[in-house]
Amino acid sequence: MSTARFPEGFVWGVSTSAYQIEGATTEDGRGPSIWDVFPGGRNGDPACDHYRRHADDVRLMKDLGMAAYRFSVSWPRVMPTGRGRLNGPGLDFYDRLVDELLAAGIAPYATLYHWDLPQALEDEGGWTSRDTAHRFADYARAVHDRLGDRVGTWFTLNEPWVAAFLGHGSGVHAPGRSSAAEAFTAAHHMLLAHGLGLEALRSAGAGRAGILLNLSPVLTPGQLGDMESRPSEEDAAAVARIDALHNRQFLEPVLRGRYPADLLALIERTAGLGHVRDGDLDLIGRPIDLLGVNYYTPTVVQARPGAVADPAFPGSEDVLFCSVPTAVTAMGWPIVPSGLTLLLRRLSREYPETEMMITENGADFVDVVTADGIHDVERTSFIEEHLRALRVSLEEGAKVRGYLVWSLLDCVEWADGYRRKFGLVHVDLETQRRRLKDSALWYRDVIARNGLPDGRTRRPTLETVAARAGVSRATVSRVVNGEASVSAEARDAVLRAISELGYVPNAAARSLVTRRTDTVALVLSEPRHGGDALIAAVVRYVTSMLEGAGKQITLMLADTADSRRRVIQHVEARQADGVVLLPPDDHGPLAERLARTGVPVVLLGRPAVASLVPHVAVDDAGGARAATAHLLAGGRRRIGMVCGPTDLVAVQDRLAGHRDALREAGLRPLLALSGLDRESGAAAARRLLSDHPELDALFATSDDLAIGALRAARDLGRRVPEDVAIAGFGDIDAASCTTPALTTVRVPAEDQALALARLMLSRLDGRHAGPVVLPARLVVRDST
Ligand code: FCB
Repeated sequence: MSTARFPEGFVWGVSTSAYQIEGATTEDGRGPSIWDVFPGGRNGDPACDHYRRHADDVRLMKDLGMAAYRFSVSWPRVMPTGRGRLNGPGLDFYDRLVDELLAAGIAPYATLYHWDLPQALEDEGGWTSRDTAHRFADYARAVHDRLGDRVGTWFTLNEPWVAAFLGHGSGVHAPGRSSAAEAFTAAHHMLLAHGLGLEALRSAGAGRAGILLNLSPVLTPGQLGDMESRPSEEDAAAVARIDALHNRQFLEPVLRGRYPADLLALIERTAGLGHVRDGDLDLIGRPIDLLGVNYYTPTVVQARPGAVADPAFPGSEDVLFCSVPTAVTAMGWPIVPSGLTLLLRRLSREYPETEMMITENGADFVDVVTADGIHDVERTSFIEEHLRALRVSLEEGAKVRGYLVWSLLDCVEWADGYRRKFGLVHVDLETQRRRLKDSALWYRDVIARNGLPDGRTRRPTLETVAARAGVSRATVSRVVNGEASVSAEARDAVLRAISELGYVPNAAARSLVTRRTDTVALVLSEPRHGGDALIAAVVRYVTSMLEGAGKQITLMLADTADSRRRVIQHVEARQADGVVLLPPDDHGPLAERLARTGVPVVLLGRPAVASLVPHVAVDDAGGARAATAHLLAGGRRRIGMVCGPTDLVAVQDRLAGHRDALREAGLRPLLALSGLDRESGAAAARRLLSDHPELDALFATSDDLAIGALRAARDLGRRVPEDVAIAGFGDIDAASCTTPALTTVRVPAEDQALALARLMLSRLDGRHAGPVVLPARLVVRDST
């Protein structure tokens, strides 16, 4: 086998799921699912309208040469209330889909549960109720009765960890519960559903059957760099605990019929063991034919005494989830292809008999539709690097039978909605038009040759085009810029080379002859405590989006008089086509000064003084009003405010919103001023609560301050929320990890970043743009 070839019969395909692409959520008798009801869901949206366009989508897959298509059957489409009556038209849909796939020579792989539980079952307890597992088995049997003669590969459940722990632990997925005990109970009932479902499929004579798990190698930061490095005992213990929660919680019951002993103790402490009955694990551990491995990124942790537990990993106290110093996808997931090799090596060692398939792998990147296509080089190289890693595993003997890309289409990414783009195929949401991205064409070639191309995917450069066309770089640049001074012959050669190489003219080509640099300066004024998470996200998203649009980014600091002067000189010398200025504080004069250079400037945050420079801000006043109204609605009347530095415009606006809401209720604000960090938040809250023991609620202008307030309340022996309710502003990750979890106003960092990048792009196109104010949304958790 050559280094780039895959084994004979290796299965290439794609995966999707019903809720993410079908749309038609209320048609032909489909019942509601938990994702239709969930506030972060997309009730009634057409998604990719696959319900109606399935024949076209199958044709698309055929053209790309797919051998397998993994789709999910929507339980509420087939059984609207989750039990009993079957919905004929719903089953007919899957019947047609399967026939079309077979006619196209594509093997249908059916997933029975990809997170869209019928809401009627949720109303009866959902996955916290044991009965749901039995209802699943009935449903599995019913679907098999209809499709079993033609579907050869069945998966019971997709990623029970996500459904159990994001759905019932952190609550960021439907049904949005947040209880560690319920998360463990739900996880067990899902495993039981797998066991019962498998039994139902087997007794009906199903072909191949298995389960799909999201697996992630758990490593310390040291191991990420060097697998041979030996972690400290504490770090090794942290790794083992997270590995038990993430991976072994599912691998061991399914493949060995037992819970790992260390995990069992944790489950017992958190949820008791009443829900794990005799015989359950025997059933769950019956042999499967195929383990579906969904791999995206590793999990990197280390011991950190005092760290609060992540609610998605109950029992993860004293563990720090680390960020990884490497390239990330737009989703923020670190790109670590070698993690796949590590994972498969481990699975092959511990479960040598198990046949596997990579059933999900892929990436979200910001795509730019150009007149000549969607040149998603990052996605292509993401897939290519992972296939190379997979190739290493095959060489080592891993029994991996195929690879399915997540996903065929850009679709609904659960609570993140349409913002995420995982598709090989772009979907225009207005028209539903499908456009193949370059990654789809590249994948088609991989399938056709059952292997990877020899060279690595690299964005063709001006040099490559010049070399292919046999002309100078300057000539290429002139052609790209539409100059007349090029001979017809040279022009033809250049255009031919451009189309053969799939070249996208970028900065270098244009700047050779135009005055444009295709560079945008991203200017950071003085970084202030507490804004870091937002700034980091903004830098990441703005960079990725502007780079996707062919711009280069120059990151500049403007934190001293001297550095501010340098920024101004840089822009005056036209070394940047545009400036994105963040964060808001302090940049009034700088923004105005830069705007006077004539170069388009956009700001993050409302400027202190009314200005014509367009900005992106969050509705700070509205958010504070909503948080205060929520406290009032909960019967709180004596509300104190921990107020950050009032020279910050955001704090001024939050104060105004708080004041307005109180005024409407006939109340007056009671403030304690603080700095920006937790300690000063705690000190201010302590002052408020000691001077005014009658206070029954606190609103803090940031969530760091609110975390300080939580600490102060605890130190003073006040129960939260019984004695004092606490709400914050901003949604740093820690807000959902405090005990109790904090109610906060969500400031959508990614949305701000995207709006900022869009604003910059439209200013660069010479379009006028006004300010953008994004709504802030209250996220109610346990502290109120
Ligand atoms: C997996 C899910 C899939 C999709 C990808 C990005 O966890 O199974 O539906 O959301 O992540």
